[in-house]
Amino acid sequence: MTDIEELLLSRIRDVADYPEPGVMFKDITPLLADPAAFTALTDALAEIAANTGATKVVGLEARGFILGAPVAVRAGLGFIPVRKAGKLPGATLGQTYDLEYGSAEIEVHAEDLFADDRILIVDDVLATGGTAEAAIQLIRRAGAEVAGLAILMELGFLGGRARLEPALTGAPLEALLTV
Ligand code: PRP
Ligand code: MG
Repeated sequence: MTDIEELLLSRIRDVADYPEPGVMFKDITPLLADPAAFTALTDALAEIAANTGATKVVGLEARGFILGAPVAVRAGLGFIPVRKAGKLPGATLGQTYDLEYGSAEIEVHAEDLFADDRILIVDDVLATGGTAEAAIQLIRRAGAEVAGLAILMELGFLGGRARLEPALTGAPLEALLTV
């Protein structure tokens, strides 16, 4: 394990049986509260943004906002929020996706994305991949290109990477940590 992986991992807290019994929640708030760890995380994700030739960063509500916005600033790029449905005032594009029980919808301001944009999607955790898959579809439908997906922590046992492979069509999926 590299020094940065060790630092990041040491600042993520496992919370058993949250939000429901049987689930091990990955709490990133200790990492956010540690300036050295948060800066190292931001720098690592900003390097991915540069390497993928991204023109903008999309953050996925809510934790993807916290990670993605400083990455955009550090990389000198614009930031676009992908929000849970009903929160954006302008003309939106929406994408529904399945949850374990029921479904959810995310939205983006269509006017924020252009045909020559290459988007780096940023989020904290990749679990089943449902959220990221919906974001990829949304960005494509808005006419922009997906440059890649950058995640702090991939939960490998949930198979999100395999699910996303067809949707990513060769764009990189970079996870700083895999558990
Ligand atoms: C969590 C996490 C990822 C998503 C991963 O978000 O932050 O966005 O789930 O799960 P998936 O790969 O199975 O889609 P959630 O919407 O639970 O909460 P948040 O609003 O705090 O980010
Ligand atoms: Mg989330």
